[in-house]
Amino acid sequence: MDPSPKDLPLPLPLSEPALTGLLVLFFILHIVFVNVTVGGGLIALGYQFRALREPAYDQLARSICRIITVTKSLAVVLGVGPLLCINLLYTVPFYSANLLTGAVWILIIPLVTAAFLLLYLHKFSWDRLAQHRGLHITILAAAMAILLFIPLIFLTNINLMLFPEKWRDIHGFFDALMLANVLPRWLHFMLASVSASGLLLAWWTSRPGFSIPGLATTDLRRQGYAIALATSGLQFIAGPLVLMTLPSVGLNLRLHLALILGIVFALPALYWMWREIDAPSALPGPGRRFWWIVASLGLTVLFMATARHLYRDEALALHQARFAIARDAYAERSALARAGGELPPLGPAEPGAVPPISQASSSAGAIAAPTDRGEAVFKLKCRACHVPSKRLVGPPLQEVARIYAGNPEGIAAWVLKPGRKRTEYPPMAPVKLPPDDLKAVAEYVLRVGGSATAAAAPPPVRP
Ligand code: HEC
Repeated sequence: MDPSPKDLPLPLPLSEPALTGLLVLFFILHIVFVNVTVGGGLIALGYQFRALREPAYDQLARSICRIITVTKSLAVVLGVGPLLCINLLYTVPFYSANLLTGAVWILIIPLVTAAFLLLYLHKFSWDRLAQHRGLHITILAAAMAILLFIPLIFLTNINLMLFPEKWRDIHGFFDALMLANVLPRWLHFMLASVSASGLLLAWWTSRPGFSIPGLATTDLRRQGYAIALATSGLQFIAGPLVLMTLPSVGLNLRLHLALILGIVFALPALYWMWREIDAPSALPGPGRRFWWIVASLGLTVLFMATARHLYRDEALALHQARFAIARDAYAERSALARAGGELPPLGPAEPGAVPPISQASSSAGAIAAPTDRGEAVFKLKCRACHVPSKRLVGPPLQEVARIYAGNPEGIAAWVLKPGRKRTEYPPMAPVKLPPDDLKAVAEYVLRVGGSATAAAAPPPVRP
């Protein structure tokens, strides 16, 4: 019996591309507010410390804290969108990862609640605790410690769901946390948060009308740019670290292209930030390069979020197909049981093994009565990934028929022991079939692939 859990036999409420687009869009909206909340909180904490020596900064920290109690609410509300989309698109992997990290995953709710209450306590006790600075700072530090931990739970889960092949060895959150790339991803995220918040600080402190007694706004603008530049620069260490620790299953050309475009757009932003730190302080406003910086970093975020999605899609493609196969096999057995038929025994419990087709096809025969053995095998074992004339998980049968014209044995050999050919596809897992079934399915593939090619060819021109 294939150990893959089965996918839900329910239709999606929207087409898959539409849901995917929404997922990336909603995720960006959500993450921007998370970034500002976490990054802003850390910056405020820094300024509160600084205020111990330079009291004027106390007012600045206070203003920032007023903002992050708003952005944190928006972050949570906007988190619903991506959560719903991911539920629909990746139901099996997402819930499997949730279950495997169960206790800590559900802790997110009390932790978020606790962090929010601490943020409010901190905000509203500013005057009352004026004489107890240490305690006041500790409250914010506690809230921030929680807010730094929550993304780690999310990342651990979202990361774990990408690697079903590891699920057997995961016994709780800490196992999943130890997968090589979780901590680099967290670092990458934290730097992005502080960087976005630094940029926001530069803009916000240079608005007309903003003033804090004892602080020059041009100075604050510079500090904002300096924070953004330093943390963005560190991404050139954190980013490659993420890429190097990611298992190679999901890496492909499109993903690298998206990453390169993301980096290319980040470079001018870094340069402009550096120029803004140097700019004459007399100029009003956030600096004339500000919106260019925002635009180029915006493109970076868009490409990085796309790359993130491409990786996920690629890493899960093969597993998603397996879940679908398990779902179809279940539907078949279920229909057979309802019809009062005798259920064939389940296949061997060996991990990764697929039940021999001779068992499964008896049930398929009872329902669909396929006229052709090759067709029956194909429907059960290959159709989840291959169709005649378009790319699915695997290449179209047309392409396969071209490569193996007159050579069904070649297909049979490949199915038993697939090689690694196409870099833009995931690898194909071997399919164990008895020789008769293999021969039948190989011939079927050549027949269908060949006729699809013939149908697609332009009609002969009449003289
Ligand atoms: C879970 C998805 C999946 C299933 C199921 C699957 N394949 Fe594939 N198949 C792939 C992928 C992905 C590739 C491309 C692999 C590569 O080129 O590295 C592929 C490639 C192939 C190729 C091309 C080999 C070549 O030399 O170019 C053949 C032939 C093939 N599959 C036949 C089959 C047959 C027959 C079955 C059913 C018995 C089957 N596949 C089931 C995913 C699948």
